[in-house]
Amino acid sequence: MVARKGEAPLPKVNPRTGRTRLIAANWKMNLNHLEAIQVVQKLHFKLRTSDYEYCEISIHPPFVDIRSLQLLIDSDRMNFSLGAQNCYFEAKGAFTGEVSTQMLSKLGVRNVIVGHSERRSIFQEDDGLIAKKVKAVFDSQMIPILCVGETADERSDGLSADVLSRQVSTAIKAVTPEVLSNLVIAYEPVWAIGSGTPASVKDASDGADLIRGTIESIKSKEVAQAVRILYGGSVTSANSRDFLESSSLDGLLVGGASLDPDDFAALIEA
Ligand code: PGA
Repeated sequence: MVARKGEAPLPKVNPRTGRTRLIAANWKMNLNHLEAIQVVQKLHFKLRTSDYEYCEISIHPPFVDIRSLQLLIDSDRMNFSLGAQNCYFEAKGAFTGEVSTQMLSKLGVRNVIVGHSERRSIFQEDDGLIAKKVKAVFDSQMIPILCVGETADERSDGLSADVLSRQVSTAIKAVTPEVLSNLVIAYEPVWAIGSGTPASVKDASDGADLIRGTIESIKSKEVAQAVRILYGGSVTSANSRDFLESSSLDGLLVGGASLDPDDFAALIEA
């Protein structure tokens, strides 16, 4: 990751895995630009230097907040990565309501969530569209955080592994190995999102191992070892530490518990 102006610390590589931990805040459709500024200021005030060294912290606000947060993060030399929750794959044109990867990259966005289960289920995004978005994010020199995960029905039908390997393999097919090493995948079982019932650490780790195995079988062991895999779904300050202790997992994608700066700071510090 590129150092910001000034002396802000860079996250250290996890010696157990050789990968840099990432904790990403997915605000979903919450917090207007004024609220966003307050939350980020408060979060920055709460966190210690050692928190920023422990992991990369990425904030994913609604599109309309991004410019305000870019100015705040730059002017106060905060060591947050700026993120987005979605994008469109075309560069420009008659796509009413959409935002291109070039537009996000111009705003200093580093990480873009792609294929979140709410995009898949509410907005009917399929694996083919998500693959185009992954490629577009890489083409604009940003990092996709590709979300994958099975629904409760798929899980009870014993289809979890099939779903994960299909979602991962379709999304990465068109990406070259050199670029793909930078990918982040968030394993988010749909039944765990916003439910208050997270996956067990074992299930989350098994899901991550399956995802890494899928990448290895399509690309290479080297690429599979480089990709960072997060867990997401009802993560709180009470369980974040357990997930971060798993050597299969490189971090967390946090929804509800990232909206309150006290909760989110506690979750990172745990
Ligand atoms: P949650 O959401 O932490 O509120 O379960 C996670 C997500 O949807 O990314």
